[in-house]
Amino acid sequence: MTTAPSRPALPRDCTFDADDWEILARHWYPVALSSEIGDAPTAVRLLDETLVAYRVGGSVVVAHDICPHRGVPLSLGGGDGSGITCAYHGLRFGAGGRCVRVPAHPESKIPSRLNLRTYPVVERYGLVWTCLRPAPGADPVIPAMAHWDDEGFQRINCPWIDIAAFAGRQVEGFLDVAHFGFVHLDSFGDPDNVEVPDYMPVRHQYGHSVDYWSTVGNYPHGTKEAPPGFRWLRRFDVHLPFTATLVVHFPDGGLLDIMNAASPVSARRTRMFAPIARNFDTDQPVQGVYDFNRTVFEEDRAVVEVQRPENLPLDPRLEVHIPADRSSIAYRRGLRDLGLSHFFTA
Ligand code: FES
Ligand SMILES: [Fe+2]
Repeated sequence: MTTAPSRPALPRDCTFDADDWEILARHWYPVALSSEIGDAPTAVRLLDETLVAYRVGGSVVVAHDICPHRGVPLSLGGGDGSGITCAYHGLRFGAGGRCVRVPAHPESKIPSRLNLRTYPVVERYGLVWTCLRPAPGADPVIPAMAHWDDEGFQRINCPWIDIAAFAGRQVEGFLDVAHFGFVHLDSFGDPDNVEVPDYMPVRHQYGHSVDYWSTVGNYPHGTKEAPPGFRWLRRFDVHLPFTATLVVHFPDGGLLDIMNAASPVSARRTRMFAPIARNFDTDQPVQGVYDFNRTVFEEDRAVVEVQRPENLPLDPRLEVHIPADRSSIAYRRGLRDLGLSHFFTA
């Protein structure tokens, strides 16, 4: 008699449908700012999995935040740059999560079963990215940011923002071009300019892109004005399942490149990372960008947290669509094509 190969267990208290979780776990997500992860073990959470991150010799290790000895979170322990130490019996873990010391038996050979369960790590855009179920032998697939590495661009790592909502709803809100004049009244929206000109999503390998031309400006209220009639180009690029980038083309050749990387902490919690690159005001303090970014995302958060149902209905019959929603319709279709169903266990 043959038995099916056993799958690794889902996280405890998993809030996702099991099949959806397996699909989502194949993708890469940011879990922390690079600047947050130092010698000390730091707890982070992704897709309901409890993780610990620390640096050894400058490289980040991401591992399951449970000591293999007696199940104490490693994030309660300490670290010194060459490894971390569990708070309970002092087991020490170094590069690659290997157990390098068992204080109770300093002379004994250390069994490999005491090594931590680790996950692959990439540091990119000032963020620590990981993947819970990488395909064997596959290269990491980190969403692209068009201008991050370009000469003359200032790279800015905004503080993350926590949202009590599903990542898919948040990303869809980022792609939505019909809400600027209703939701973004304290930042850049214009209540007298709410008509949405036609646009067409174009599918690509990782999702879809949109070139959206309109006269809605992107200057913070009370700063500059575009020349009358200027048409702004916003280029959106979706990288399924939960990342989108936006490049805003300013009147004087300025480019603002924003990545909206929604990290699904659980089905109802999202940590929003937003690396930004720009080729203007590059000598200006970044605090102004942090503040404007927070104002915009807080305006969106107020809406996203109250949408019902909390998940993103992928069946097109469950919500009503208008022509302005072409990008959101393409996004939902892309998620469906990944094989996702309804995301939540309840
Ligand atoms: S529980 Fe971690 S060392 Fe014992
Ligand atoms: Fe918005």
